[in-house]
Amino acid sequence: MSFANPRPRVAILVGSKGRGSNMACLIAGCQSGDVPAEAALVVTPRAGNPASLRAQECGVPVRELPPKGEAYADRLLALLRDERIDIVCLAGFMNLLPSEVVRAYEGRMLNIHPALLPKFGGKGMYGHHVHEAVIAAGETESGPTVHFVAERFDEGPILLQLKCPVLPDDTPESLAERVLELEHKAYPEALKRLIASHA
Ligand code: GRF
Repeated sequence: MSFANPRPRVAILVGSKGRGSNMACLIAGCQSGDVPAEAALVVTPRAGNPASLRAQECGVPVRELPPKGEAYADRLLALLRDERIDIVCLAGFMNLLPSEVVRAYEGRMLNIHPALLPKFGGKGMYGHHVHEAVIAAGETESGPTVHFVAERFDEGPILLQLKCPVLPDDTPESLAERVLELEHKAYPEALKRLIASHA
């Protein structure tokens, strides 16, 4: 299946407190031409958060849509349809998406998680909790996973993983930093692979 737009239009969903560093890497990849897609829209739960400000600086339209209430799924789907969005990337988006949204973008919606799924995923596994769990389990490797979004947290087929060592003296912060560096490589690369697979 190919995309509706010859240069696929990507929407990035960020979280309310999101730094937006993965979002910024996806936008940079699209704007430099490295990723053959257009960063067309950023959807934020809260206007004025760091991610929204970064998106605006990059010239990408930002829309505020709090992920709550009965009308959320319809409003999000209408927004994505109106903006002719082909691909959705979650980058720090913390909520479970309604199943109708997941189904509408099946195979065209990605998420990034800061550990090697299927380990260290699921409800409550976000931010420092993930890296604390990896260290507590005595893992010797960690790294980001880019996966297709399914109806449950951190499930769905894996598209790409990158690995780094977990060092004996790592803290959750030092490990998070090492993994984040790889996230910034993994997400644009995974988006390229998704687009190539639809060509
Ligand atoms: C990243 O660690 C990502 O793996 C997780 O949320 C974090 C978002 O960071 N899903 P940022 O806002 O992209 O900097």
